[in-house]
Amino acid sequence: MDSQLDWHAARAALEWQVDLGVTETISDIPVNRFEQVPPPPKAGVAGAVPAPDVPVQPEAGPDPVAEAEAAAQDAPDLQALRTAMAAYSHCELRKGARNLVFCDGNPKARVMIVGESPGREEDRIGKPFVGRAGQLLDRMLAAIDMGREREDAQSVYITNVLPWRPPQNRDPKAEEMAMMLPFLKRHIALVDPEILVVMGNFSCQALLDKRGITRLRGQWHDALGKPVLPMLHPAYLLRNPSAKRVAWADLLDLQARLNTKA
Ligand code: URA
Repeated sequence: MDSQLDWHAARAALEWQVDLGVTETISDIPVNRFEQVPPPPKAGVAGAVPAPDVPVQPEAGPDPVAEAEAAAQDAPDLQALRTAMAAYSHCELRKGARNLVFCDGNPKARVMIVGESPGREEDRIGKPFVGRAGQLLDRMLAAIDMGREREDAQSVYITNVLPWRPPQNRDPKAEEMAMMLPFLKRHIALVDPEILVVMGNFSCQALLDKRGITRLRGQWHDALGKPVLPMLHPAYLLRNPSAKRVAWADLLDLQARLNTKA
């Protein structure tokens, strides 16, 4: 439209358009009605601004380790500890296991052996070290005149870091060991042996926070206020018979230590 039109000319032009049937005024600038328009703010939220891109935090659930600590500390004796472990629901391994493998041997023994986790036979029978590795362990102990069946000063007590068999005998996971560690510590406190023997890498990791059993074996450590002797696991000795020589040296060392304290 000619911007030079005066008011009267502009009105006459508008009336002429109305006479022609124009019912709406439109702007000089075309409107693209197919263009994507952002959605309006939600109804009822005045001046709503888009939420910042913050990840949604899951609700904090129970702390499995703290619960294990509380349950273990509440156990006044071995029977109560076994019951507390059976009732502990956070470790998924229990779902796939046939039995809780708690212990074998004499709870009054001077020596407590800590293995890793039950295998197929242990899971079936409900006792630690009863498969091939366990039979070798029994022969090793007999060689220094000790045994789990004995009730005298030559007896031993046996348990594991994990009380349930991991599927397909896979390695224990760090979180599984962390949640069962309070029970193991309470187990050791209740039995109160003179000496701890930790067999294998995962037992060393659990109680000494160290790995590398072939380097650690035979060197005395301290944990939980007790002397600890790391030894090669009997399952390792079955696969590596030449390592039996150093295992024999460690057994003699254990025997000598017991004799000096007798
Ligand atoms: N290996 C272990 O460490 N513990 C068992 O009970 C059996 C095999």
